[in-house]
Amino acid sequence: EHIVLAFSGGLDTSVVLVWLQERYQCPITAFVADLGQGEELETARRKALALGAVDVKIVDLQEEFAQDYAFPMYRADAMYEGQYLMGSSIGRPLIAAAQLRVAEEVGADAVAHGATGKGNDQVRFEYTYGALRPDMKVIAPWRDWEFSSRNDLLAYASKNDIEVDLSSGERPYSIDTNLLHTSYEGVALEDPALPVPTGLLTRVKDLLDAEPEPEVVRVSFEKGNPVAVNGEALSPAGVLRELGAIGARHGVGRLDIVENRIFGMKTRNVYEAPSGTILWHAHRAVQSLALDPEVLHLKDELMPRYASLVYRGLWFAPERLMLQHAIDWSQDVVTGEASLLLYRGNVQVVGRTSPHSRYDIAFATFEADDVFEQRDAAGYMKVNTVRFRAGRRAAGGAAQ
Ligand code: ARG
Ligand code: SIN
Repeated sequence: EHIVLAFSGGLDTSVVLVWLQERYQCPITAFVADLGQGEELETARRKALALGAVDVKIVDLQEEFAQDYAFPMYRADAMYEGQYLMGSSIGRPLIAAAQLRVAEEVGADAVAHGATGKGNDQVRFEYTYGALRPDMKVIAPWRDWEFSSRNDLLAYASKNDIEVDLSSGERPYSIDTNLLHTSYEGVALEDPALPVPTGLLTRVKDLLDAEPEPEVVRVSFEKGNPVAVNGEALSPAGVLRELGAIGARHGVGRLDIVENRIFGMKTRNVYEAPSGTILWHAHRAVQSLALDPEVLHLKDELMPRYASLVYRGLWFAPERLMLQHAIDWSQDVVTGEASLLLYRGNVQVVGRTSPHSRYDIAFATFEADDVFEQRDAAGYMKVNTVRFRAGRRAAGGAAQ
């Protein structure tokens, strides 16, 4: 037997790594997905080896994450429950898919993850395993072992000399970071009545410490994908890094919400999504010029369905692919540039252009034009109020 564990170096996956060796007595390869979380990577390598992994595979997935996961989701303008940009939800299918590639490479017959039995991530991992490698054995220790809380994990960690990062307090928060966002859950955040403890959020500047001057950022799109920032062409991951850095200094993208998990329980989650927030607004601004009105409205109606599929781990399901095809068809004309003003947490669109713009000053103007006959509007009103008149006649003057 040989297990590939999706390993981050955090409390849960560290305990899982040690526990798997005890339980299965077999070699474990630690797989670390690099989604742009930064310094944590080398710490993760060191920890995995110290905790007994036979090998550590750190795979740089940043470009793939941006191009094949984040960008398709942003073409859809996806938001869960009207607010959450799903930076974690969209990371999991890629981590799981890349983990399967490592399993193939090392000839492993099982994959393991450290997600809890209550949370969303287990679903996203395992639907991906199921969709791509239905024959692979899946190990989910949180659903199997004797521990029932993160406190139990802390006790096991101290007994087994597992190093735990307690810089944020005596119990670690559940934190997930990538190019799109940082997510925080647990500990003091579990009381939704209370504000986020000062000092916990570090990715984005506090509003009071944000840049004192506003800044305009320009984002260029080709067929719905961001390709340049302030006129400079960048790789997909490069766009997210650049927007992330600009947004962070202006305090952009913080969100404190209570969200509904897949299993129905509510959770208080705090996010910092500087790149995603700018990108979301910029994409909609360019799209607003280029799309046919009915296509835009239908796309917006489908968006909550699409978002729900992503949130619920159905990235590789045929219904997500079907919606993606429809969305991508609409994006052929989403080329152009948006200008956004950033200031102390605000993102305001201040301009947009597109070579495919349908915005036509001749139609829109309040001044004289030669394309629209205002007299024609009278017929529109007359025809569309036929039913009111018919109703009145039938009901003898009543409202229905
Ligand atoms: N609740 C969010 C989501 O489901 C964040 C999950 C973050 N995951 C984590 N392991 N910290 O997308
Ligand atoms: C976890 O349960 O492991 C993290 C939170 C989530 O997946 O929703």
